[in-house]
Amino acid sequence: MPDELVERFFGVSEEFNQSQKLIILPGEGDGAGTDLLDALIEHFSDGEAGVSNLDPKLVKELREELERSSFFSGDMKHLWLMLEKALAKSGRAPGVDGEIRLLNLACGHCEEGSILSAFFGKGGKRVRQFAMDLRDREIDKAKRRYSMTEALFQKAGIPGVKETDEQNTVEFVADDATHLVGYGQVPNRFDVIFIRHQNLWHDREVWRKIYEFVINRLDPENGVLFITSYFDREHILALEMIRSLGGKVVFSEQNPNTRELDYPGKSTDRHVAAIVQS
Ligand SMILES: C[S@@+](CC[C@H](N)C(=O)[O-])C[C@H]1O[C@@H](n2cnc3c(N)ncnc32)[C@H](O)[C@@H]1O
Repeated sequence: MPDELVERFFGVSEEFNQSQKLIILPGEGDGAGTDLLDALIEHFSDGEAGVSNLDPKLVKELREELERSSFFSGDMKHLWLMLEKALAKSGRAPGVDGEIRLLNLACGHCEEGSILSAFFGKGGKRVRQFAMDLRDREIDKAKRRYSMTEALFQKAGIPGVKETDEQNTVEFVADDATHLVGYGQVPNRFDVIFIRHQNLWHDREVWRKIYEFVINRLDPENGVLFITSYFDREHILALEMIRSLGGKVVFSEQNPNTRELDYPGKSTDRHVAAIVQS
């Protein structure tokens, strides 16, 4: 079942052998695991069958299978909880017309691809996600990860799982985000822009261009930019830069469930912020 598939697909993959603990922790009393699984089922059932329309036995079996499996990391569940808070505090309702244009920038191997679509697609919204990174190799991994996730749901018997549904899918693009201006392949306006572990520390000028672009491409009424950072100083500098470029920071909190990394003071999604156009 899922674990066997995971091993077959990702068995020798670097990211699955790293320190990440790849498991959805059931319960923990906050309900996030259940919400996340329900939203993923809804996302992969592709609108043909929301959780409430599916055979309850099938949903129960799938939930148990996924909770037992080691496919999604605890980090994803904790990110989900932070996104819930950040979105609520932003006071915005991206995709009021039932459609979300989502840009996931500097996505790396994109552990969060399906999670983001599930999160913002809750309630049956259609999510068109563009996931972009500079490095081809990361984008290849990201594509494999997303297909693998889709295969898990297909194999579990969720009806309606499709490989390509142009309106509710993730499009992976290997390119330089600073070339996005005038780029025909992605929309002009986004309801949600997400940058996990933004990397301003690495090259401030590049990230200035990226932030300038994303702030200007947010839907002025309901668009929200979410960023997460690995360490305190980088987060503070990013928020300063974003403010100087016309972004209004409406939420920024430390993640209580952040996972410490080997480097002192560095941890996963240590800070999460929500930004709107000022
Ligand atoms: C700290 S990593 C974060 C990756 C991923 N979001 C994660 O959380 O694992 C920063 C990412 O930014 C990407 N990046 C850096 N400059 C970029 C640019 N100009 N355009 C697109 N991606 C870029 C890198 O390739 C790298 O994957």
